[in-house]
Amino acid sequence: MTGPPLSWRVRWVVASAIFLANHINAAALSDEVNMASIDYSKVSIEEKPLYAPPLKEVAEVLSEGLRKTFEFVNVTVEDCPDLTREPFDLTTPGLSGDSKLVELGGPPYLTPQVRRDKVYDLAALLRHLGRDPALLAGAGAGPWPYLGVNCEGIINLSVRKGAVTQGTRVVSVAPPGAAKGQASYVQRRLPPGETRTALLGNYLLSEGRPGRVLKVVVEKRIGPSNFITAIREALKEWYGDRAVGLGGAFLLAAGKVKHHVMPDFSASPLCSDEDVDRWLHYFEMTAPIVHLGTLVTGDLGLDLRVQHFHGYSAHGDGGHYHYDTTPLQVRYEGYFALASSVIRVDRPSETHGIGRD
Ligand SMILES: *[C@@H]1O[C@H](CO)[C@@H](O)[C@H](O)[C@H]1NC(C)=O
Ligand SMILES: *[C@@H]1O[C@H](CO)[C@@H](O)[C@H](O)[C@H]1NC(C)=O
Repeated sequence: MTGPPLSWRVRWVVASAIFLANHINAAALSDEVNMASIDYSKVSIEEKPLYAPPLKEVAEVLSEGLRKTFEFVNVTVEDCPDLTREPFDLTTPGLSGDSKLVELGGPPYLTPQVRRDKVYDLAALLRHLGRDPALLAGAGAGPWPYLGVNCEGIINLSVRKGAVTQGTRVVSVAPPGAAKGQASYVQRRLPPGETRTALLGNYLLSEGRPGRVLKVVVEKRIGPSNFITAIREALKEWYGDRAVGLGGAFLLAAGKVKHHVMPDFSASPLCSDEDVDRWLHYFEMTAPIVHLGTLVTGDLGLDLRVQHFHGYSAHGDGGHYHYDTTPLQVRYEGYFALASSVIRVDRPSETHGIGRD
């Protein structure tokens, strides 16, 4: 027999099989639909101002308002620590510089039935908005065309002089298609050239510069609300109809949290919150976990998601934050920038209230 030794051929066959298994799913799907991402000149982009009170006042409002929910509360205005360092590991040192919220798409592109055409290139969005240098950080669906299945995205992307740094993580159910209760999850980093996302997202947009930010440290939860809901409710109570928005990062420094990870798209329509709940996979995850996202205290007639944070950890955890499951052990440490406006991109024309939690 001529040719390479048998073991080489076996290895080649195995390697090819692995390659195909990884890529065939995506290839099959991309035949079905036009995989071009959304052309931002052809979708609606609306911008509305938010009320931006002095940071010091917000710190006072939260110092008081968070006491209902946490036994220990310390809210101050600080120079942002270098967020490129552990545990935050962002792509820029700070959160400041022309800070705004961006909401892309929305839950109506996921339920009742998925809109596979809603694929967005985030680097193209920054170019379209004329933002450079820029940081986009927050929570949304990940780029299913990359994995071949639906996934969570922890968005952490920056651009400087046209060069993109992509630090976004995605988390998907593993193995894909596993039944609820029998599945695990896998977190991975997107490659530098993959700047797409899909369906929906809530991000802080800024220049990523160092600057003054809100630092919120709380421990030992004694109220029913989760960390972000407690902040949003405290702001809402004080500012009323003047809508305030902020975005940034918080660390779950101690304790455990309940996250969900979306499985692949449902074959049957998801018509209610109960349907969505049955479809999602829930997991308990362990500190330390860094979460990125946004909150806003009003809707501004833009059909906004009022809060949305996704988490990522160096030990492989990650997903959509719901609440902590160990109230007495919990410690949160957050850094947030106030946003001057909300940019609403490709707002669904037909909307509903499903899947907003
Ligand atoms: C509150 O936070 C500030 C800033 O991090 C710190 O200097 C101060 O010691 C903290 N206070 C308490 C009671 O922990
Ligand atoms: C953000 O991106 C940086 C640089 O690419 C990466 O090292 C870091 O792990 C990412 N952080 C998160 C929270 O995803």
